[in-house]
Amino acid sequence: MSQRNRDSIGNILTVAISVCLVASILVSVAAVGLKPAQDANRLLNQRQNILVAAGLLADGARSDEQGRGINELFEQFEVRVVDLRTGGFVDDIDPQDFDQLRSARDPARSRRLDSDEDKPTLRRLEQYGIVYLIRGDDGGVQKTVLPVRGMGLWGTMFGYLAIDGDLVTAEGISFYRHQETPGLGGEIENPRWRAQWEGLHLFDDQGRPTVELVKTRAPEGSDARKRQVDMLAGATLTSRGVENLVNFWLSDLGYGAFLENLRRGEV
Ligand SMILES: Cc1cc2nc3c(=O)[nH]c(=O)nc-3n(C[C@H](O)[C@H](O)[C@H](O)COP(=O)(O)O)c2cc1C
Repeated sequence: MSQRNRDSIGNILTVAISVCLVASILVSVAAVGLKPAQDANRLLNQRQNILVAAGLLADGARSDEQGRGINELFEQFEVRVVDLRTGGFVDDIDPQDFDQLRSARDPARSRRLDSDEDKPTLRRLEQYGIVYLIRGDDGGVQKTVLPVRGMGLWGTMFGYLAIDGDLVTAEGISFYRHQETPGLGGEIENPRWRAQWEGLHLFDDQGRPTVELVKTRAPEGSDARKRQVDMLAGATLTSRGVENLVNFWLSDLGYGAFLENLRRGEV
């Protein structure tokens, strides 16, 4: 083939199109082939965060001191779907197939929140939510982990709040997805800050969710202090967001009815 022919427009186009085609096939095959692994990793990461919030796994650890891995530890949980309005279990939805975030976007399974209800800026509220429970030998619930979410400064923060068997005290909180600035709002992931949540009182004497993120906590021993966590330095808006989302999901709009049923021993 002459030099002139090799450099023809037809040849250049053929080579360019072939390269594009091969590259796109490779990328598609990789994307499709890796999807199951990505999904499995996402699930593992969520389970790890649930375990960390519940105090069953150290931060960042892949197994506990006895060498039990994330999936094995997670088997302790009873995973259920709850009707947020009644607080009762929904038995005809398999929690394995239930995607709470997707259902929040489904008009048939969610409703628009009025602005005065919507402190965490969710816009829509799903009808059903997932709960993770650990029961004792007597069947009583010892730990309850709730998925929580709400706006920070830059986007929605997604996490888990674990509640002790007394249904008043927090066991811990963890966030597995957010867009807050590392070192500022991103400190919601900091284990030292999160440690303050262990033992925090989530409700006041009237049973209202009243967690507060404050610049200066009330004096040691006071009732108010039991419900207070330090704000994150330089991240007022993220801190407000955490306060709003925790109080929202504990309220009657969120899991309040379910927690009330648990208190009465009705679920
Ligand atoms: C680059 C940049 C990133 C910021 N990231 C956050 C953040 O993640 N969370 C937050 O609450 N504020 C963040 N801020 C600060 C807010 O813009 C705002 O100034 C702050 O929340 C005001 O309250 P404070 O300084 O009293 O905390 C950021 C500011 C800048 C310039």
